[in-house]
Order: sequence, then C-alpha cells, then structure tokens
Amino acid sequence: MNSNVRPAEMKRINTPELAEAFIADQVSQVRAQVGEKKVLLALSGGVDSSVVAALLIKAIGKQLVCVHVNHGLMRKGESEQVIEVFQHQLDANLVYVDATDRFLDLLAGVDEPERKRKIIGGEFIKVFEEEARKLEGITFLAQGTIYPDILESDGVKAHHNVGGLPEDLQFELVEPVRLLFKDEVRAVGRALGLPESMVERQPFPGPGLGVRCLGTITRDRLAALRESDAILRQEIAAAGLDKEIWQFFTVVPDLRSTGVRDGKRAFDWPVIVRAVNTVDAMTATVPEIPYPVLQIITSRILAEVPHVCRVLYDLTPKPVGTIEWE
Ligand code: XMP
Repeated sequence: MNSNVRPAEMKRINTPELAEAFIADQVSQVRAQVGEKKVLLALSGGVDSSVVAALLIKAIGKQLVCVHVNHGLMRKGESEQVIEVFQHQLDANLVYVDATDRFLDLLAGVDEPERKRKIIGGEFIKVFEEEARKLEGITFLAQGTIYPDILESDGVKAHHNVGGLPEDLQFELVEPVRLLFKDEVRAVGRALGLPESMVERQPFPGPGLGVRCLGTITRDRLAALRESDAILRQEIAAAGLDKEIWQFFTVVPDLRSTGVRDGKRAFDWPVIVRAVNTVDAMTATVPEIPYPVLQIITSRILAEVPHVCRVLYDLTPKPVGTIEWE
C-alpha cells in the first residue's frame, strides 16, 4: 500500500473525474492508515502541502493539525490566504505561528547566501519542533512529497524540510500525493475546491523572500521587496501574462543609487524585475514583456514603494545567470 513506485497501469490524472476518483481512493486509504489518531502537517501554503491539507481535512477533519510558520519572508498576502482558506473556509485545525521576529533577528547582519539559507531552514525546523512538542497525541506526520521528489532526490523534500526533526519526534509518514506529478497535484487541488491562485501558484523557494532581499536582510528593504513583488504580480496578471510566464518576481539588491524625488536628491534602492520561462528550471529564457506593461510596472513601483528610485529588467538567461539571484 505504501509503495513509492508508480504502477505502470496508473492513469494520468488529467480530468476532474479522475481527480475525484483519486480523492475518494485516498480518503479511504488515509482513514484506514490513520484510524482515530492525529496527524501533523507543516502547511507552507505552497501547492503540495495545501493539496495534502485539503485532502486530509476531507478524510479525517480535525484529526489533522496544520502548522503554518510565517518566517517573515512570505510574499504579500500569503499567510493571510492560508488562514482564510484553511481556517475560515475549510474549518481546519490550524496553528498559525508568526515567527517573523525570530527569523529576522537571527538573520541580522548575515550576508552570505548559503548561510542565510541554513539559518532559515534550521530555524524552521526548530519552530516546527517546538509546536509539535506542544501538541499531544500526534502519531503521524503528513508531507507533500510528490513523485519528482522521489525520482530526483530519494524522497527528500528539500524545501519542506521537516525531515530534520530529532529522533524522539519521528512520526509515521502520511504522503497521499507521493505518486503524483505536479500537474496531477494541481488537478486534485482543483477538484478539492482550492482557489486557483493557490493551485496554480508558481514555484517559491523555501527561504522565500530571504534570497531575493540580497545580502544582509533589513526590514525596510524586505518591505520594498514585498510591495514591489505584489505590484509585479498584479500587473502581470492584469496584462494576462501570468499563465504564460513560468516564474516572475522582484529582487532588491543591497546597493543604493542617486535619484531625484520631490525636487530633492534621493539615495535609494533599485528593484530588479526577474521573469523566466523554463521546462525544468535547469535552463531558462527571458520572456519579452511588452514595453507598455514594463512601463506600468515601473511607474507603479516608483510611485508606491518608498525608497526605490530605479526599476531594472533582468535580461539574463540561465545559464549563465541562475533564476534566483542568490
Ligand atoms: P536557480 O536559482 O537555481 O533556481 O536557477 C531554480 C528553481 O529553484 C528555485 N529555488 C529554490 N527552491 N529552495 C527551494 O525550494 C531554494 O533554496 C531554492 N533556490 C532556488 C527557484 O525559485 C527556481 O524556480
């Protein structure tokens, strides 16, 4: 029952009917596996963990405890969406932890990208572990492992990162979408009624905005990053390009340049717009965003985001540049 090999006869889930059949099957499998016991899930708000959460809520309701850790590096509105969808709409048992200060205090003064990643990953496990210890009677840990994770990295879900829990917190795993490819996970999410913005969410690194606020993370540059990213997302969607571009975001480097605002000299940050098309993220091309759209994005960022005096469009394909800047 818990095989990690996709059976040759398993159909590609590409219709609502096949998604419904998969859900019905998993609901009974999960009920059989879990019985009356409790299941814990780290709910990031990404596609995989959100679909697992919705599936398990359907199967076992309040026996599922979702923990959403806001590390302060989420995009604008993301934690709010997790609360709205899971707590208010699906009536989930959701523990929301705002750990923003913990993460930002630890990251203060750290500018080396790999060190930033390690701190964010390590602290995430710590916060999750603390929450897990507060809960009683947990037997299972649910994870949004998907088939490419099993094929590519021995089942280790790098950006979910709860595999690093200590010995005495090793739970039995519940991984209901482990045999599915990403498009199938999305189909299942849709059939479960999750909002399109959650089901179609573009990839977002585990360390979140932390690797886009270049160098040392400061709260003011992080705010500029979050606001400019939200404007970019709105305008790309308004131009009808959000389904055409694979991944797009803004980056705020740790440098300032001269500008003029209200007749006075300013010494403010640039915002870099990054957009890529790719199949597997190993190589990537840069899409041609129509100039009028770039102009709207630029004027809105300059008008609405404090301390930004330039907007740049990154034309670099991968290779040589990686998709992220850090
Ligand atoms: P790069 O920058 O290596 O990115 O060209 C390739 C894809 O991976 C995402 N990415 C990450 N995802 N944790 C993640 O879960 C990370 O630390 C990380 N770094 C990059 C990136 O957004 C792109 O889609």
